[in-house]
Amino acid sequence: MMMSKDYPFKPALIFDFLTPFYDLFGDIGLRKKLQARALRFFKLKDGWKLLDVGSGTGPDLILLSKKFSKMKLFGIDADPKIIALAKKKIKKHNLDINLKCAYAQELPFAANSFDAVWSNLTLHHLTRESKIKAIEEMYRVLKPHGQLLLIEFSRPKSWWLKSLMRLQTLFSYVYDNYQGKIPLFLKDCGFKKLRQTTFWGNTSCYQAEK
Ligand SMILES: C[S@@+](CC[C@H](N)C(=O)[O-])C[C@H]1O[C@@H](n2cnc3c(N)ncnc32)[C@H](O)[C@@H]1O
Repeated sequence: MMMSKDYPFKPALIFDFLTPFYDLFGDIGLRKKLQARALRFFKLKDGWKLLDVGSGTGPDLILLSKKFSKMKLFGIDADPKIIALAKKKIKKHNLDINLKCAYAQELPFAANSFDAVWSNLTLHHLTRESKIKAIEEMYRVLKPHGQLLLIEFSRPKSWWLKSLMRLQTLFSYVYDNYQGKIPLFLKDCGFKKLRQTTFWGNTSCYQAEK
């Protein structure tokens, strides 16, 4: 599939030169706690064919492959540099995970081909138009009754998180998250049975069904 070149692109840590340090930030940050929260909330099944959209250096795919030995795991990311880092890690761990460089807005997979689509803190890197296109793509590649497993920033609860997210809107496309629009986009696209849990004041896990 040809990739369109005209999408505005925000790398993992907003500035391209920081990409090699992404795992360092993740490891000293809250990544493990976020993954644990997500795994407690999501209802997952071993044996699923699962796609991680915006898979970054692959931390979630690696975790899932260790927890669910029969899952068939795929990941896409628009950044060739981060795909290269993820491939190195996957080789080191000797795991069977299929990675591709692709945009969330143009998933290079057939319709109705995944049991689950996972996406962790990627949608806020996309403009509103691209967020909606990416959600439509996630819907398209899911099988009927397939599960969307989304982790994203959500409407902040405290004044200081509101100020922090206001600041964040200068660097990323987090404004729709700030306004609580993500669940509306999911419903508009056709997702049903939406469940949501919110923690840390502005972070949510959403599970929804095609
Ligand atoms: C904050 S990082 C999250 C990475 C990973 N999901 C994690 O939790 O560590 C956001 C990721 O989205 C990717 N990304 C940004 N825009 C994208 C797009 N249009 N399509 C696919 N991936 C994109 C970036 O390259 C980056 O790896």
